[in-house]
Amino acid sequence: MPISPHLFVIFGATGDLARRKLIPALYHLMQSREVSQNCFVLGTARSDWSDDHFREVAREALRDQGHPEEEVAEWCTRNLFYQCLGDGGDYDALRNRIDRLERHFDLPGNRAFYLSLPPGIYGSTVEQIGDAGLHESGGWTRLVVEKPFGYDLESARSLNDTLHRYFNEEQIYRIDHYLGKETVQNLLAFRFGNAIFESLWNRTHIERVEISVSESLGVGGRAGYYDQSGHLRDMVQNHLTQLLTLVAMEPPSALEADAIRDEKVKVLRATRQPDPDTDVVFGQYEKGSVNGEVVPAYRDEDDVPANSDTETFVGLRLGIANWRWQGVPFVLRTGKRMPKKQTQICVRFQGAPVSLFQTGGQPCIPQEADCEARPNELIITLQPDEGFDLRFQVKAPRSSTNGTMDLDTQQLSFSYEDAFGPTPDAYETLLRDIITGDPTLFVRADEVEASWQLYDPLLEGRVPLHPYPAGTWGPDLPQPATDSLTTETAHS
Ligand code: BG6
Repeated sequence: MPISPHLFVIFGATGDLARRKLIPALYHLMQSREVSQNCFVLGTARSDWSDDHFREVAREALRDQGHPEEEVAEWCTRNLFYQCLGDGGDYDALRNRIDRLERHFDLPGNRAFYLSLPPGIYGSTVEQIGDAGLHESGGWTRLVVEKPFGYDLESARSLNDTLHRYFNEEQIYRIDHYLGKETVQNLLAFRFGNAIFESLWNRTHIERVEISVSESLGVGGRAGYYDQSGHLRDMVQNHLTQLLTLVAMEPPSALEADAIRDEKVKVLRATRQPDPDTDVVFGQYEKGSVNGEVVPAYRDEDDVPANSDTETFVGLRLGIANWRWQGVPFVLRTGKRMPKKQTQICVRFQGAPVSLFQTGGQPCIPQEADCEARPNELIITLQPDEGFDLRFQVKAPRSSTNGTMDLDTQQLSFSYEDAFGPTPDAYETLLRDIITGDPTLFVRADEVEASWQLYDPLLEGRVPLHPYPAGTWGPDLPQPATDSLTTETAHS
């Protein structure tokens, strides 16, 4: 779909996200043939920058990413502008600048407002945008909000109310950058484009699903935000929950935004609130070693209070009470300072009811004996090395003696990169969808609220915090009586 002429206004344009992600993604899009030449970026923030300074910062960021110097310089001079908001938030000056640019470039009034701001000021910024009448123009106007959307259910509802005072739901694009990853979108293709898997995708054939998102990095320079937020809010309520809904949803009636989002919301509504005493474990990293490097404890990181109780790891067991999934545990595990960066979904199928291959030749029943029968697993790796592996048993060569056979686990593997080359950056995909007006990969208001509803009981400080050494996989979940499997299988 061609991208129509518009002004892309970035609030918080002096920040890291704008430099690292937004400007490069817009550059790529605007350099591509599908885009009208008349697409412009107006950065705005409190800092007293000039157009030239903004362009210089953007030029440097694009040069660092290896883009050709001449093209970059030309694009920055032609397409980038900056308007200072000042400490008081001069929205009249911003409105005048937008009007001038639109007149000068003969733009139809199409505007995207991207809030690349601390979440605490989303509401007040939208009020100022609205009070200045920026959302009313002769063309389309869209509002883009980064996660986190709210701090809990109540604040998410209140934020949604504020946004809806000025923008319709169709105009609001809530970004969860995981949804822009090719491999996350591929979950839909994988599930609904292959009848072979879909027919097994239920409680009859699947024993458990594990979603694990591990990072080797610590909190970095973001302690100010992260220590207030914690890992549940930072990763689980949004990214992991999105993965959960895509794995568990029913086939949508069409590959269309609301049909897909309706199904995702149904999953969330059917998911039972986890019990803080039995279904959850929180952890916080201590001093340890990651990839051979000794790293400090979370509490010793810059700007983290020495007595912080903020969790940097969450393990969670969720159950979905519907016909497809009743009784199948969905185990979510995610943390910082773990041995490696990896996002995986492990679907463990039911094992064979009886194994014929035990040493000694006597059939054994997996749940009743020390039986070696291994179930099939589908491992979907979302990053890095995107692809999937289907694990199954084969006969180990030369292992037939006395009527027995040794089995060995092997896998069929598919690598995204081998097949298609490098995958595009999530932000490029998401920004293209914003500009072309496709809300499929964005989170709807009811989805956000249903997700907070699920996790609200865990925000009351009842979940005990377990320390874990940096460079390890984090604490185990309490084991339910009916669940004898370890939580570590996704890392095997
Ligand atoms: C962000 C979180 O949303 O996602 C960060 O705020 C986290 O804390 C990041 O590091 C992980 O994203 P990715 O794409 O690197 O897995």
